[in-house]
Amino acid sequence: MSNYDPVEVTPLHADEVARMLTEALEAVAAARDLDALKQARLAHAGDRSPIALANREIGALPPAARAEAGKRVGGARKAIAEALSARQAELEAQRDARVLIEEAVDVTLPWDRRPAGARHPLTTLQERIADAFVAMGYEVAEGPELEGEWFNFDALNIAPDHPARSEHDTFFVGSRDSGMVLRTQTSPVQVRAMLSRPLPCYVISPGKVFRTDELDATHTPVFHQVEGLAVDKGLTMAHLKGTLDAFAASMFGEGITTRFRPNYFPFTEPSAEMDLRCFVCRGASAVPGNPPCRTCKSEGWIEWGGCGMINPRVLVSCGIDPREYSGFAFGMGIERTLMFRHNAEDMRDMVEGDVRFTLPFGMEV
Ligand code: DAH
Repeated sequence: MSNYDPVEVTPLHADEVARMLTEALEAVAAARDLDALKQARLAHAGDRSPIALANREIGALPPAARAEAGKRVGGARKAIAEALSARQAELEAQRDARVLIEEAVDVTLPWDRRPAGARHPLTTLQERIADAFVAMGYEVAEGPELEGEWFNFDALNIAPDHPARSEHDTFFVGSRDSGMVLRTQTSPVQVRAMLSRPLPCYVISPGKVFRTDELDATHTPVFHQVEGLAVDKGLTMAHLKGTLDAFAASMFGEGITTRFRPNYFPFTEPSAEMDLRCFVCRGASAVPGNPPCRTCKSEGWIEWGGCGMINPRVLVSCGIDPREYSGFAFGMGIERTLMFRHNAEDMRDMVEGDVRFTLPFGMEV
């Protein structure tokens, strides 16, 4: 320690101090953000920075040399501190200006434009169907969803041993012999209308029906049908066909081709199935050699619903004289109609309530 020459303490050389100052000022100026400035402060003004170490060396100088070295180092430290705080203020101002822009709230933006929700496409379709029939002079009728077995089956000439009556299809309410079911079809509304309305009677009735089916792409345990009923003097199958053709045109556009295919329903005689020309292949897939069609299974036709002339036995059950009056009836599935109209492929979409399915139908309230 005795032959230590303090004048030789390198960090205190004027050049050295000037270099430290320059490096510090460069680092401060180069700091692009507050984090970088913090690093610069640590490196160039912190306890372990070259200038702080130099400051510590001053005490080792002979007293005569201390004042000058102290002035030099002190001046450099002051300049560094000033540069740091000036840059700090600058960067804080920059940050504040940026935050003002980035976190700005536009108070003029609408605050109440949340979608209000809309009715389900199945609901609006039922109304559209009702409208089409109201335009033809029909009335809209309603019946209960919890229905007497007599209305749902017996009065419609569905004998107790008919398969539609087996527990497999029907939700019985309470015990099997409670006499009450969740209606499996809208056809009981026919019976209610004939029993309660004066003749002639033209009635349309859309609504929910229930069957013990598992939910899959083509089945749902709760679905919708629309029932139509006309009782008047002199009604024939031609009136039925004309009415259903008008209905088909109002649903699928003019030019839709339909056909009647013989079928059996206990409550109509004769009965038919109403088919539509396949809206995908337009019947082309049924011609040998053409590509197959998934929608109609290459039959060229798709089944839309059942219909027929009201069975005289049903008229009698409802107190109507079949020698005086005749009538026709029909029942179509609303989900099927929606599928054909809009090319919807999966019935589950209709029950799951995902707005991504319903939005494209429009937000009709
Ligand atoms: N109720 C029948 C069903 O659920 C559909 C039906 C067929 C209704 C013929 C009718 C009709 O009114 O005449 O399968």
